[in-house]
Amino acid sequence: MLTMFNLLLANLLFSSTTQAQAQEAACKPLRWNISASALNLDLSPWTVDTLLSTPLATLLGNVSELNFNAGVNVHSEIYGVYCEPLQKVDLATKSTLQILVHGSSYTSDYWRGSDSGDSVSAHSLDYDWVHYANSRGYPTIAIDRLGNGQSSHPDPKVVQYTLEVEILHQLSKNIRAAFPHVKNLVCVGNAYGSILGSVLAEKYPADFEAIVLTGYSKSYNTEAFGNNLIASYVSPGANLDEGYTQFLNISIFQQLLYAPFYTNNAPYSPAVLNDDFIHRGTISVGEIATAYFGIREAAAYKGHILVATGQDDIVFCGNGPLG
Ligand SMILES: *[C@@H]1O[C@H](CO)[C@@H](O)[C@H](O)[C@H]1NC(C)=O
Ligand SMILES: *[C@@H]1O[C@H](CO)[C@@H](O)[C@H](O)[C@H]1NC(C)=O
Ligand SMILES: *[C@@H]1O[C@H](CO)[C@@H](O)[C@H](O)[C@H]1NC(C)=O
Repeated sequence: MLTMFNLLLANLLFSSTTQAQAQEAACKPLRWNISASALNLDLSPWTVDTLLSTPLATLLGNVSELNFNAGVNVHSEIYGVYCEPLQKVDLATKSTLQILVHGSSYTSDYWRGSDSGDSVSAHSLDYDWVHYANSRGYPTIAIDRLGNGQSSHPDPKVVQYTLEVEILHQLSKNIRAAFPHVKNLVCVGNAYGSILGSVLAEKYPADFEAIVLTGYSKSYNTEAFGNNLIASYVSPGANLDEGYTQFLNISIFQQLLYAPFYTNNAPYSPAVLNDDFIHRGTISVGEIATAYFGIREAAAYKGHILVATGQDDIVFCGNGPLG
């Protein structure tokens, strides 16, 4: 009952915000059929169970002796959401299109912040990248990466950064053709999505005029993942193949994706953490085994680069403020 009352109250208090938000942008779903070829890491000697029961640092040592020589050709459907600001904007912002590439265990929804419909909605705009970009005149396309959300889910061993980069390369060409007025295509990544951005900058330096890498650095803390991946990840079951994994419980989720060492004055709302966990996505074993090798130097890249990493990011910034 209390929840119902809160919900009504929240609707009363925040309906104006919702309307303002609705007026600020028009969003529509997009789908692309993309065929891409890549040379993947040859994981054929490994079973999913062996991949997941090996400590990550050991696994990376093991697979660094394998070669990226397994040719794959995958036909996939990639899903995305295009949001266009409705207010009058100047040409510079209108001709700049941000492609938003989420991290591991998320989908395109990552960029919308929390949207549980409960008390969290009071905070949701604070976490909403799409709303912020649109309100400043920038259109966005948030995609579901291969193996996530509404995009295709092929064999999870095949979902590796190498193949995902080829898909983003094709996608950038499709988007330029479909949005001919766009002069500046910006790749905005988060975490694993930023790793893909770094490989794109190296391999296809002309694809994006600017690359924004959030939740990213050159140091990748494999220790943060602990000694036994299988203890942290479980198969989400349902209709997904074994090898698509999901965080086992909220402590592990918080440990890796939120600063866990704030017991009282956490700089985020616990409701947001909860909601984020409930809506968590998946991670493929192919991504777990290869992500580390996707942190690259892009000597030939001549566009703009912005890197933004939180000081409490345990994976890309050590162990937080004390470590
Ligand atoms: C993608 O291909 C499938 C199968 O050929 C087709 O049903 C679907 O309509 C295509 N989607 C798009 C967006 O072209
Ligand atoms: C992985 O490497 C460790 C030591 O670095 C070794 O003991 C283990 O046998 C290797 N596993 C496989 C499956 O190659
Ligand atoms: C989460 O899982 C880990 C690993 O199995 C376990 O140590 C921890 O107690 C669990 N936490 C909760 C809240 O269930």
